[in-house]
Amino acid sequence: MSRRPDRVLLVVAGGIAAYKAPELVRALKAEGCDVQVIATPAALAFVTELALSTVSGRPVRTTLLDAAAEGSVGHIELADWPDTVLVAPATADLMARAAAGLASDLATCVLLATRAPIVWAPAMNTNMWRHPATQKNLATLAGYGGEFVGPDRGELACGWVGEGRMIDPPILAAAARSRAARARGGPWVGRRVLVSAGPTRSHIDPVRFIANASTGAMGFAIAEEAAKQGASVTLVAGPVDRATPPAVQRVDVTSAGDMLEAMEAELERAPVDLVAMVAAVGDLEIERPHTGKLEKQALIPSMAALGWRRAVDVLATLTGRKRGATKFLGFAAQTVEGVDEAAITAELVRLGLHKLAYKGADALFVNRVGVPGLGFASDTNAGILLVRRGQQHVERPSGPPTPKRALARWLLDQLGAEFFEEGAR
Ligand code: CTP
Repeated sequence: MSRRPDRVLLVVAGGIAAYKAPELVRALKAEGCDVQVIATPAALAFVTELALSTVSGRPVRTTLLDAAAEGSVGHIELADWPDTVLVAPATADLMARAAAGLASDLATCVLLATRAPIVWAPAMNTNMWRHPATQKNLATLAGYGGEFVGPDRGELACGWVGEGRMIDPPILAAAARSRAARARGGPWVGRRVLVSAGPTRSHIDPVRFIANASTGAMGFAIAEEAAKQGASVTLVAGPVDRATPPAVQRVDVTSAGDMLEAMEAELERAPVDLVAMVAAVGDLEIERPHTGKLEKQALIPSMAALGWRRAVDVLATLTGRKRGATKFLGFAAQTVEGVDEAAITAELVRLGLHKLAYKGADALFVNRVGVPGLGFASDTNAGILLVRRGQQHVERPSGPPTPKRALARWLLDQLGAEFFEEGAR
């Protein structure tokens, strides 16, 4: 079942940051949102109506007393349409008028009439931002339930360096979508999700280690998407150079043992609805890493003395100690020989079902590796989601290779419907 896109009403006020509005619309579209733009007449001094209507795919609304526009979609209908309203840039003037409850133009009228949550992205000169009048308006609007994102610090158009810069479009788009998802409800709102991502390392000596090619992209995408859909997310990350997604708690770990310990601590702390074990946990570990850096000549002779052992199986250990209603999702990257699609799929399902069973997981996403467009080093992925239903299972192919973020959304839609929506098994 696929849900309709989140609807965002973007109110663009008349500040210099309005020139970023088309980029913001594109970022919202990239998040999968439907976007309707309202631009104040002052905003149109900084950005053209044509640019905004082209990127949003809808006519821009600018004035209240426009007989033609009111005739088709009135301002009240406009106020009722969105799942969330994003005001970006929110100028000192617009904040003041909204805080006072004025309805003197289309933007303020809609802000007063809407029942959708409002996300404000202020952008103005530092002194204007710090002025007690603006701070009072901020408190008033926050008191009405408004959420504020930013402003950021940085170089301002007026030449000042300080607080007042509009937060970057991709971050605003993520905030708006997350607010829309929370407003609409849905299976992930209020859920607790624990995700593991990236590789693990086992050290040979202080500077050398064995690891694998995992980049953490898929795990980070799932963590980010779950947070956007209203879940409270903890991400246990192996060593990867990636920014923590917005509103996600991160715990960094190095070895398989550290990962198990961190995940157990999270499961102890509070009930978890879903554990997504996306990490490529190393299977080999060195029992006695060398304490000093090994000399080059000593490397090969020393390898046996380091002692090799199998690393702990994090997923199997966690499912073995399963408590409460936690659902476990595993991932399996498999190489399958051959060219016959049906035979490849059948083999992937066979391998996946075996792994689903011996890991004790509730679902497993199995994908083929060793082919372009899939797996570790690729930006896209595709595979089959296997979900256990008692002694039976269901198979859900994800379709052709898609960007990992879109795949994360697809996976959460599937799992949400399967495990957490009303009437779910
Ligand atoms: N996994 C784990 N701990 C390990 C290895 C894997 O928790 N030591 C988890 C992975 O995060 C993944 C699932 O188990 O969710 C399957 O990983 P995979 O590497 O395919 O499984 P292996 O047990 O290593 O199986 P194989 O024998 O195919 O390598």
